[in-house]
Amino acid sequence: MQTDLRGRDLISLQDFTTDEIDTILEVALQLKRERAMGVPHPLLRDKVLAMLFFFSSTRTRASFEAGMAQLGGHAQFIESRTTQIAHGDTPTEIGEILGRYNDGIAIRNVDWGIGNRYIRDVAAASRVPVLNMQCDVYHPHQILADLMTMRERRGDLRGRTITISWAYAASYQKPISVPQDLLLAATRYGMDVRLVHPPEFELMPEILAQAQDNARRSHGSLERMDDFEAGFRGSDIVYAKSWGALLRAKDDADGAAIAATYSDWITDERRMAMAADDAIYMHPLPADRGIEVADAVIDGPRSVVYDQAENRLHAQKAVMALTMR
Ligand code: CP
Repeated sequence: MQTDLRGRDLISLQDFTTDEIDTILEVALQLKRERAMGVPHPLLRDKVLAMLFFFSSTRTRASFEAGMAQLGGHAQFIESRTTQIAHGDTPTEIGEILGRYNDGIAIRNVDWGIGNRYIRDVAAASRVPVLNMQCDVYHPHQILADLMTMRERRGDLRGRTITISWAYAASYQKPISVPQDLLLAATRYGMDVRLVHPPEFELMPEILAQAQDNARRSHGSLERMDDFEAGFRGSDIVYAKSWGALLRAKDDADGAAIAATYSDWITDERRMAMAADDAIYMHPLPADRGIEVADAVIDGPRSVVYDQAENRLHAQKAVMALTMR
């Protein structure tokens, strides 16, 4: 175990060794067991986390806030639109000032081309750990929960086939941070990864290059495909979700028009039946029900979406306990 994570920022899991990620996952499992048994674990008594949101959230906000309370501390919820950021507070000022009030700063900023830079600029000025609650490039706390869930369901991930697929959604141009970060993590853990999407829904070239390098080092594999149904065949883990044509579209309307040409990319029972007999279905939520995934799949016996959502709590508590103590 690599136990000294005190003071570390978590902006990208690529900044952490697999030993360090394994430590977080082991602590998360311990905290999950203790919570199940009613064992209190006030590891961050009197500590405060600032949670700064530039974008809406259900799971991330609720799980970080509950997690801080369960660790004996407090989380303050700050919406950017209620702050003076629009009137001039810079990332450096946010890092300096919130870092003096708090023991950690968590930020969600998914603005394309802005979010990751913003979080890194705050971190450069902060004296306390900065945690990425999702940016335009990465969603590390979602991926920790996903790794935890996959291990609970499938044990050792090495040699397991995971399909990371685009799916259609009509609600909005979803960030590409989940597929990118999942791709990076799955290739690090020696999985056989199928990345499936229509040609217009590319991920960032530098992320693909890192994933190829990860796969080479871990003796896993990365196969790129554009045939939705072929991606399901024999797969152990189907992680099919929508994301925006962010590298291609001129604006949201253009992105929506491109996506609409692939409106048949829905995860349904017929397609799930092509996967391995014991395949699981994963999605970080929120999902466009009946469009992105059929109710029979997301509510069906192969779906682990609620375990994923629950594990956000345990994984984030582990990160906070290890970095903010
Ligand atoms: N999966 C996820 O990050 O959910 P929220 O957007 O609701 O936080």
